[in-house]
Amino acid sequence: MKSPKYVLGIETSCDDTSVAILHNNLEHQKVEVISHLYFSQEVLLRKWGGVVPELAARNHLLKLAPLIESAFEEAKLKSSEIDLIAVTALPGLLGPLLTGINAAKTLSLLHHTPILPVNHLFAHLEAIHLSDNICYPYLGLLVSGGHSIYFLVSGPLEFKMLGSTIDDAAGEAFDKGGKLLGLGYPAGKIIDELAAHGDEKRFSFPIGLKDRNTCDLSFSGLKTALRVFIQDNPELVQDPLTLNDICASYQAAVVKALVSKLKIANQNLNLPIVVGGGVACNSKLRHEIKKQFRHAHFVEPRYCTDNAAMIANYAIRTYTEQIAFPDCLMLDAQSRYLDKQSLQEKKI
Ligand code: KG4
Ligand code: ZN
Repeated sequence: MKSPKYVLGIETSCDDTSVAILHNNLEHQKVEVISHLYFSQEVLLRKWGGVVPELAARNHLLKLAPLIESAFEEAKLKSSEIDLIAVTALPGLLGPLLTGINAAKTLSLLHHTPILPVNHLFAHLEAIHLSDNICYPYLGLLVSGGHSIYFLVSGPLEFKMLGSTIDDAAGEAFDKGGKLLGLGYPAGKIIDELAAHGDEKRFSFPIGLKDRNTCDLSFSGLKTALRVFIQDNPELVQDPLTLNDICASYQAAVVKALVSKLKIANQNLNLPIVVGGGVACNSKLRHEIKKQFRHAHFVEPRYCTDNAAMIANYAIRTYTEQIAFPDCLMLDAQSRYLDKQSLQEKKI
C-alpha cells in the first residue's frame, strides 16, 4: 500500500483501553496526533490488587466501541477515511489483545482497510519520534509493568535484545512493593510521589545481579527484602514520614539497578539513550539518567504508559506494501515476545 495518511491505533494489551488517530502529514514530513483517547481500568482493578485478565478483556469490550466513535468525532473523520488500522498484537494478555484485534478486524471488513499488527514493546520505544528528532542507532531502555529490556535499536524493525530482567519487571517491582506497603495499585506513581519527600539513604535495599557484568536485571530479591523488612518493622510503615523514607530507599534500589546495567549496555556502544514504557515517567530515573548520560531522551510522559498513539505511530514507521486486505484478517494475538536468539534457542 502507499504511504497511509490517516492511521487508527488501537491498544488493549493489558488494562488500558486506548484509541488514537494520527495524521501522517507527508507534505510537512511530520506525524500529528489528531485524536487520542483512553480509558484506564486502574480504579476498577484496584480492589483486586492487580490486573484480572478476564475482567480487563470485558472492560475493553465495553469501552472500545464508544472510544472509537469519539475518536472519529474528535478527528472529524469518517471510518471510511482511515487508510490503515494499527493494533497491538503482541505481547500482552490474550483476552485483552483479542478484543482489540477483533475490533480492528470488524472495522477492516467495513471498508477493506488493511490492518498492521504492532509489537507493543517496539512501539513503546519508537514513541520517542512523536516528540524528539533522534537518529538510529540508539540504545533503548524499555521499562514497563511487564518488561525491562535493553535493546540496541538500529532501525524501526531492527531490535537486538542486549539484556532483560530474569524475573520481575521494574514496574512489577514498584507495584508489588507498593502492595506490600499497602499503597494500592498501580503503585509506581504513588511511590514516586512519596519518595520525593523521603530520605533514600535511610534504609538499604539489595540490588539484584550487582556483581554480574551483564545487562540482565533481577528484582525479586528486592521485593523479598522489603517483605522481610516490613515483617521485622511493622510499626515503621505506619509512620507517614518513615514510609516516605522507605519508598525513597526502595525506589533508589530499582533506579540504581537500571542505571548501572544501562552503563554496562552502553560501555562499548556509546550511543544516545532512549527510555520508554510506564516506568520512564519515574522522576528519580529521569534525573539519574540525565545526570549520568550526555545524550538521554525520554518518551513524553503521556506516551509512556500504554497508549494507542504509540501504536499508530509505530505503524506509520513500519508499514510496507505487503500489508493488504483481506490477508490481514488472519491476524492472531501472541502473549509473549521472543527475540531472535530466544527463538533459535527454543528451536521455534
Ligand atoms: O507501560 P505501562 O503503562 O504498561 C505495560 O506495558 O506494562 O507501564 C505500567 C507500569 C506500572 O507498573 C506502573 O506502576 C509504572 O508503569 N509506572 C511508574 C510510574 N508511572 C507508572 N513506575 C514508577 N514511577 C512512575 N512515576
Ligand atoms: Zn506497555
